[in-house]
Amino acid sequence: MDKLIHLILLSGLVCIPGSLAENLALKGTATQSSTYPNWLAQHAIDGKRYESAYCSSTSSDSNQWWRLDLLDVYNISTVIITAHGSYLDQTSGAEIRIGNSLENYGNNNPICAVTSDPLTGNTVSLSCHGMEGRYVNVVRSGRIGYLTLCEVEVYRTENLAFTGTVKQSSTHLIWLAQHAIDGIRDGSFPSTYCSATGYQSNPWWRLDLLDIYEISTVIITARSDCCSDQTSGAEIHIGNSLVNNGNNNPICAVTSGILVRHTVTYSCNKMEGCYVNVVMTGHTSHLVLCEVEVFGKLLHKKRTFLRLKFSSSVDVAAERDKILHQLQSALASHISDFNLSWTQLPKKEKKPRADRGLCVKRSA
Ligand SMILES: *[C@@H]1O[C@H](CO)[C@@H](O)[C@H](O)[C@H]1NC(C)=O
Repeated sequence: MDKLIHLILLSGLVCIPGSLAENLALKGTATQSSTYPNWLAQHAIDGKRYESAYCSSTSSDSNQWWRLDLLDVYNISTVIITAHGSYLDQTSGAEIRIGNSLENYGNNNPICAVTSDPLTGNTVSLSCHGMEGRYVNVVRSGRIGYLTLCEVEVYRTENLAFTGTVKQSSTHLIWLAQHAIDGIRDGSFPSTYCSATGYQSNPWWRLDLLDIYEISTVIITARSDCCSDQTSGAEIHIGNSLVNNGNNNPICAVTSGILVRHTVTYSCNKMEGCYVNVVMTGHTSHLVLCEVEVFGKLLHKKRTFLRLKFSSSVDVAAERDKILHQLQSALASHISDFNLSWTQLPKKEKKPRADRGLCVKRSA
C-alpha cells in the first residue's frame, strides 16, 4: 500500500559575530621594499581603485614586496587586489601573506593566495577564510620587475557569493551565470568574466546562498568597456521564495540609470534571504553582470523538506520512529550536523483529484 511520508531536515541555528563589510585597509598604514618616484605605498590604500595616479609601485628589483599594517589583529576573509589596467604583469603571480610576524619584513607569514599569472582581471577577489593577522603582505620574489598595486582592500567578511550557486533566465553564448561570481570584477574579455542572459523580456539572474542570511551589502559591477545599460535599471531582490523564480521577493535596490561608476555598493539593511535575484523587470535586453558580491551574517541553516512516497506492507505510522532512525543513519555518511523530524505523520495517499476544467454551455 502506498504511504506518504513528510520529513523535515532541521539543523541548529548558527550565528557568526561582527560582519560589517568594512574595508580594514583604510585604517592601516602601508610600506614597500622600494618606491618608484611618486608611486607611494599608501596609494594602494587610498580608497581609489582605478585612477592610475593613485597606485603604488616599487622600483624594479628582484624581491618586491608591499606590506599593510592593520594596526590590530583581525581574522581576514577577503582580500581584493586591483591592478593597473595597462600593467597587469606588474601584479601577476604575487603571493598574499597574512600573519603577525615581521620576520623577513612579514614575507614569511602564511600564504592566503597567489594572484594568477598572467592576471585575468583588473580586480581580483581572494578568499582567505578567516586567516588571523595584523600584516598583509603582497610579495613577488625571484623575478626582476615592478610590483604595482592600485588598491588593496581587506575585509573580515566572506563574500557569500563564492559559496553559492547561480542560474539565469537564459545564457548568451559563453557568458555563463557563474562568471558573475568568479571573483573577477573587471577583466580584458567580458565574455569570460561577465554573465549575460540572452536578449529577452524580463531577464533575470539568481544566486542561491544555500543558507539563510541577513544581508547587509550587495556590490554590483557592470561592464567597463561599454553597454552599462545592460546592467542599469535592474532590481536586486532578496528573500526565501522561489515564486516567479525568486523575482517576487522584496526589493533591496534598483541599479541607477546608466551606471557611471561601474562598481556600485548597495546597502540592504539586514534583509533576510537565501536568494539574491537581479532582474530587469519590464525591460527587453541582455542582463549583464560582471560581478555580484554579497556580504552578511548567517541566520539559519536552510531547512530541506522531503516528501517521500513508497510502497510498503508495514504499518508506516506505527514504525515511524524506526524509519526516521534508519534514514538518519543512511544520511549521516553524506551530511553532518543535521536533525531529522516529521512535520506530518505518514498517511495514506489520497486519489489525485481530476483537473478542474472549464465547462462552456453550448447554445442549442
Ligand atoms: C579569530 O578566529 C579564531 C577562531 O574562531 C578565534 O579564536 C580568534 O579569537 C579570532 N581572532 C580575532 C582577532 O578575532
